Amino acid sequence: MNARTQNDFAHLRASGAAVRHAFDAMRTACKPGMTTAELDAIGAQILAEHDAVSAPQYYYDFPGTTCISLNEQAAHGIPGDTVIAAGDMINIDVSANRRGFVADMGESFVVGEGSIEQQRICAAVQEAVAAALAMVRAGRSLNVIGRAVQKIADREGYTIVRNLGSHGVGRHIHEEPSYIPYDNPEERRVLTRGMVITIEPFFSTGVDWVFEEDDGWTLSVPAGHLVAQFEHTLIVTDRRPVVVTEKQVGH
Ligand code: CO
Ligand code: CO
Repeated sequence: MNARTQNDFAHLRASGAAVRHAFDAMRTACKPGMTTAELDAIGAQILAEHDAVSAPQYYYDFPGTTCISLNEQAAHGIPGDTVIAAGDMINIDVSANRRGFVADMGESFVVGEGSIEQQRICAAVQEAVAAALAMVRAGRSLNVIGRAVQKIADREGYTIVRNLGSHGVGRHIHEEPSYIPYDNPEERRVLTRGMVITIEPFFSTGVDWVFEEDDGWTLSVPAGHLVAQFEHTLIVTDRRPVVVTEKQVGH
C-alpha cells in the first residue's frame, strides 16, 4: 500500500506492535519440551488481545496462527505436535491484519545454545536486514535493498534463497512490489514515499531454492543445510524508513 495519512501510519504502527508483541511473547516462551502448537497458541492469544487476525489464516486458510519452521524448514511450517528440542533452529513468522492494516515480521533463532554455525547464520541475516534498512530512501532504486543484502551474504559465504522474497504489504499480506532481496542490476523499480514493504532475506549454506513438503505448506532446504530468515515491515520516507515491527523500548 501507499501510506499517506497520519491515520495510515498510526494503523500500520498498531498492526506492527501487534505482531511484535506476539513474536516477543513466543520467543520468550519458547523452551525445549514444548510443542510448536503450544507456542502458536501463545501468539494467537496476543493477536486476539490486539484485535488482530492471523494473516496467513485469513488470506490463505493456513492451518495455524503463526508460521513455525524448525531446522531445515525455511518458512510456512505448520504448528503441531512437534516437540521443540534444545539446539533446534526455529523460525517464527507472525503476520496479522488489524482493522484492515497488515504487518509481517519473522526471525530465526536457536533454542538454547546451538552451534556456532547456527548462531552465525542467524546473526548474518539480521545484519543484512539492518544494512538494507540503512539504504532505504524514497527515490532510490529498489535494488539498494538487494545490493546491501547480497554484500553481507557474499562476505559471510551464504547463498540467498531465490524463490522466497520480500513483498509489498499494508492492506493485504502480499502486494506489489514483490522482489527477491539479492543484487539485481536489472531492477528498474523505485522506492516511493509511503511505500509499505517487507525486507526478508533467507540465507542458506549453499541452497538457493526451497522445495515444498508433502503437507502442501512447508518450504524446506535439503537435510544437512542451514537456512535463516529475518523480516521487518517498513514504510519508505524521505529519510530513514519507519520500521513498524521494530522492538519497542519498554516491551
Ligand atoms: Co513476509
Ligand atoms: Co513473514
